Amino acid sequence: MFLIGLLSCTLNVLLIIFVISNEYYSRKLGVPAAPTLPWVRKELITLLKKHKKEGEHIHLAELGCGWGGLMLKINQNIPNIQITGFEKAPMPYIFSWIRCLFYKNIECLYADFFKEDLTKYDILVCYLTSQLMKDLYDKHLKDSSSDFLIFSLSFQIEGLIPAEAIKVSGPVPIFIYVYKIGAIQESSNLPQDTSLSH
Ligand SMILES: C[S@@+](CC[C@H](N)C(=O)[O-])C[C@H]1O[C@@H](n2cnc3c(N)ncnc32)[C@H](O)[C@@H]1O
Repeated sequence: MFLIGLLSCTLNVLLIIFVISNEYYSRKLGVPAAPTLPWVRKELITLLKKHKKEGEHIHLAELGCGWGGLMLKINQNIPNIQITGFEKAPMPYIFSWIRCLFYKNIECLYADFFKEDLTKYDILVCYLTSQLMKDLYDKHLKDSSSDFLIFSLSFQIEGLIPAEAIKVSGPVPIFIYVYKIGAIQESSNLPQDTSLSH
């Protein structure tokens, strides 16, 4: 009886720490650790396959890899890939790190992606917010001389015309925006409809 009481008390304390920690880091980082929806993941995989040349080896970085599910899904479906995930919220990071432990080509880093050199990756995958995408581009990618692709789930980079904007149909329809950094066009008024495909 005492053991059951102790176990239940420990579980409750762990649950409270889990909830408080997630809430704290959602506010601190400006985005909750919400995973991507399954139909969005599926469309992202299709797009990645389209952009990757056959036999080409690519290094993809996921900025804010949350619980690690998207990295594993990409790894299952895209051959010849090296994946680096950055995560700064402790609970999702621990979870993600454990899930990726047995994959030699996936690394999950407890790191702030704003402090990393992101220009060495071929592809950046982001599911963040409009503000974080703007900060990322303005402070870290704007003056980059290397060519790479950004796949932004749901959020546009203000002032930039995406090379593609794919509407993902589903119970909650969203867009995936593809940006080509290096060969990029800037615009203060992004046309909302002209470059959208379905
Ligand atoms: C909406 S979740 C995306 C989860 C995952 N990418 C997916 O699609 O399933 C955004 C994640 O970014 C993380 N994050 C936000 N800012 C960050 C930063 N500067 N460095 C590392 N991770 C960050 C958050 O902790 C959160 O887990």
